[in-house]
Amino acid sequence: MVVGRIRVNGALRETPVAATIRMLQSADAPAYVALRQAMLAAHPVAFLASPDADLASDLERMQRTLGASEENVIFGAFDPELVGTVGIFRESHAKTAHRATIWGMYVVPAARRLGLGRALVDAALDHGQRHLAGVSQVHLGVSAAAPGARGLYERCGFRAWGVEPGSLRHAGRLYDETHMVLHLPVR
Ligand SMILES: CC(C)(COP(=O)(O)OP(=O)(O)OC[C@H]1O[C@@H](n2cnc3c(N)ncnc32)[C@H](O)[C@@H]1OP(=O)(O)O)[C@@H](O)C(=O)NCCC(=O)NCCS
Repeated sequence: MVVGRIRVNGALRETPVAATIRMLQSADAPAYVALRQAMLAAHPVAFLASPDADLASDLERMQRTLGASEENVIFGAFDPELVGTVGIFRESHAKTAHRATIWGMYVVPAARRLGLGRALVDAALDHGQRHLAGVSQVHLGVSAAAPGARGLYERCGFRAWGVEPGSLRHAGRLYDETHMVLHLPVR
């Protein structure tokens, strides 16, 4: 049942929850770092980074970088506080500048299955198309231990192209990582 609207980059989409999706700015750094620490602690095999060794948990770094460049951005879902995030950046080498990567996908447990994850991915893809000229591929990796995330990415149009066996080791167990790609129309 539709009871709200999500605003994704200015456009309204009807969903079961009312929320706003927007690009994070420097002032959002404290809320982002707190959520980042929570996601890494709660889902150790869904993310490669560890809570005690994570660049995106460095408050000063995030205050400096959030909103500073179109090439490397993070979107947040607000309801009204920060309840979800996703990042997208363009590869830095000239020969891989046609590739962008999605990372740091997270929605708090209480707000899941309401369309926020999809709205965040849509915002990241929209950013890639509008602001990352020449980007024609969006890549991501998803752990075999995160089937919900894989379902979300497939729903958004990503297709698996390979599996890296035992890519991540945590608490003595190995986890495969599936690599996925979505091709964007070239501008
Ligand atoms: C993965 C995650 C971001 C999904 O967020 P969400 O807001 O619940 O996603 P949405 O409500 O937009 O779901 C969109 C679609 O994705 C798929 N999906 C989402 N979660 C799913 C799940 N647990 N199982 C199966 N499919 C799922 C469904 O097709 C869903 O559409 P539907 O609800 O109409 O069936 C969230 O579950 C999460 O933060 N998980 C823990 C962290 C994580 O795994 N991050 C990914 C790292 S690669």
